[in-house]
Amino acid sequence: MTATPAGITYAEYLRLGDLLGAQRPLSDLHDEMLFIVIHQTKELWLKQMLHEVALATRLVADDRFAEAYKALSRVSRIQAVMTMSWDVLATLTPVDYNAFRSVLGTSSGFQSAQFRELEFRLGIKDPKFLAYQEGGDAGQLRLRAALADPSLWDVANAALARAGFAIGDSDSIRASWLAVYRASERYFELYQLAEKLVDIDDGLAGWRHKHVLTVTRIIGGKKGTGGSAGAAYLESTLTKRAFPELWSLRTEL
Ligand code: HEM
Repeated sequence: MTATPAGITYAEYLRLGDLLGAQRPLSDLHDEMLFIVIHQTKELWLKQMLHEVALATRLVADDRFAEAYKALSRVSRIQAVMTMSWDVLATLTPVDYNAFRSVLGTSSGFQSAQFRELEFRLGIKDPKFLAYQEGGDAGQLRLRAALADPSLWDVANAALARAGFAIGDSDSIRASWLAVYRASERYFELYQLAEKLVDIDDGLAGWRHKHVLTVTRIIGGKKGTGGSAGAAYLESTLTKRAFPELWSLRTEL
C-alpha cells in the first residue's frame, strides 16, 4: 500500500483534473459531448471488467470457485449498466449525429483495444482484429498477450479436466459440460460456474443487440467510420459466443 498524502482531496485522489480534462470535442456542436462521454465511460467500464476477468481467471485456475463467482457477477452487473447506456445515446438523433460525424474521421469502435481484449480474455480469439491496432502500440501488445494467455474458457475447461472429465475437442467439451448439467447436484460448483459464464455471454450478446439497434436508428444502412458495412457487419457479430459449448449442450438436456 502507498502512504496517502496528508490532506489529500477528493479531486486529487480521483485525478479529476486528468479525467475531466479529457473531453475535447472537435466541433462546437452541443451533442458531441454526449458522444465522447458515452465512449469514455465504456472504456472505463471495460477497464474494470478486464480487472475482474483477470481475477476470475486466476481463481478458476486455482479451483477457488466461490470467489470467482463474485468477480463474474460483478462483470454481469457492469454489462447491464453498459447495455442500458444505449438508451442515453439513442437520444442523439440522426440529425444531431450527422452534424458532427465528419469530425470522427476514420476513428471507430473497431479500434477499441480494450473491447477486443475482453473478447480475447473470455475466449473469442480472432487474430485478424490485431490489424485494427496501430503497429506495435500498447493496445496491440496487450492483444498479443491476451491471444497467447489461457482465456477464461480455457481455465474453466482445465478445471473440468481436473474434476476427471476428458477434455479435448469441441465435442468432448460439450459432452463433459452436458454431464455436469445432468448431474448438477454432484458437480454443483462447475454447474454454477457454467451458468455464471452463460450470464456473461448473454450480457455481451445483449450489448451487441442494443448496439446494432441504436446504430441502425442513428445511421440506418450507412457504412461505418471504420470502413465496415455498418449495421450489416454488426449483425454478423450477434452470434459470437465466448463459451459456445455451454449454449449448444442445451439442445441435448
Ligand atoms: C452514433 C453512435 C454509434 C455508431 C453509429 C456506431 C457504429 C459502429 C459501426 C458501424 C461499427 C462497425 C465498424 C465500423 O465500420 O466502424 C461499430 C463498431 C463498434 N462500436 Fe460502435 N457505433 C456507435 C457508438 C458506439 C458506442 C457508444 C460504443 C461503446 C459504448 C461503441 C462500440 C463499438 C465497438 C466495441 C465496436 C466493435 C464491434 C465488433 O467488432 O464486434 N459504438 N460501431
